[in-house]
Amino acid sequence: MNKLVRLLAAPAQSRPILKLLGASAVLVAITVLLASFKTPRVSAGPESDRDQDESKVRIGLEIAPVPLNFEKKDRKLVGLGSYIVNAQSDCNGCHSQGPATEYLGPGNPYLLSPPHGPFTGMQHVNPATYLGGGRDFGPFGVASELTHLYSRNLTPDKTGRPEGGHTFEEFLTILRTGKDFDQIHPNCTGSPDGNCLLPPFNGDVLQVMPWPVHQNMTDHDIRAIYEYLSAIPCIDTDIAGAPVLRNDCK
Ligand code: HEC
Repeated sequence: MNKLVRLLAAPAQSRPILKLLGASAVLVAITVLLASFKTPRVSAGPESDRDQDESKVRIGLEIAPVPLNFEKKDRKLVGLGSYIVNAQSDCNGCHSQGPATEYLGPGNPYLLSPPHGPFTGMQHVNPATYLGGGRDFGPFGVASELTHLYSRNLTPDKTGRPEGGHTFEEFLTILRTGKDFDQIHPNCTGSPDGNCLLPPFNGDVLQVMPWPVHQNMTDHDIRAIYEYLSAIPCIDTDIAGAPVLRNDCK
């Protein structure tokens, strides 16, 4: 028997070279396995954009807190718009009537659960105030007699167009520049009348509304928000002293 044959025939413990080879093979295997875990999921630009949009559309459609009207709407845009409105931008936080009615009592996640409070553990946005506007942001400007600022009604009117019947071009202008097409609080030309804004505030642009942030969104995202706002139910909001927030839904 030559040396090699004797080595192979010997029991494992007495085969140091084979043991070493075996151990390195295991090490290599583990390293390859770990490396494959760390490898980033590479996918081409446009493809990964599409993947991301698809999950946003799915989540958006799941979390919309009101029934949606898909008639003559692009379902994907509606879903993406819902994702932006309901998962990212909290439009309803300002465009409902305020914290007291934004959620239905047992569905208000800011409250304690029984026995100390009503929260059931399931969020429930109040559909009667959802994006209907009317939240009072208080007296604005330097003199106390100045007008109160109210968020506007974003729900569609009889024409089916959102936020008081504005076209998409107007909506784009609002989100990019803050332009107030309705001129609800123009610049004061004489003494304050409880309605106009005094310097240094610019009465031509929306105050409080985060358009200086929204203006950085893509056209596609703003289009999606518009499509979503066209799909939600119309509601009328009546607040004493607030500007007209009615759509005459019916
Ligand atoms: C921080 C509070 C706040 C948030 C968040 C907010 N808004 Fe507003 N928005 C307002 C207020 C207040 C006004 C009215 C401002 C005024 O009268 O100067 C307004 C006005 C608007 C207008 C003008 C309506 C009209 O009839 O001309 C549009 C459109 C609008 N918001 C859309 C949105 C959308 C869409 C979102 C979410 C992507 C959003 N807003 C988020 C507070 C907010």
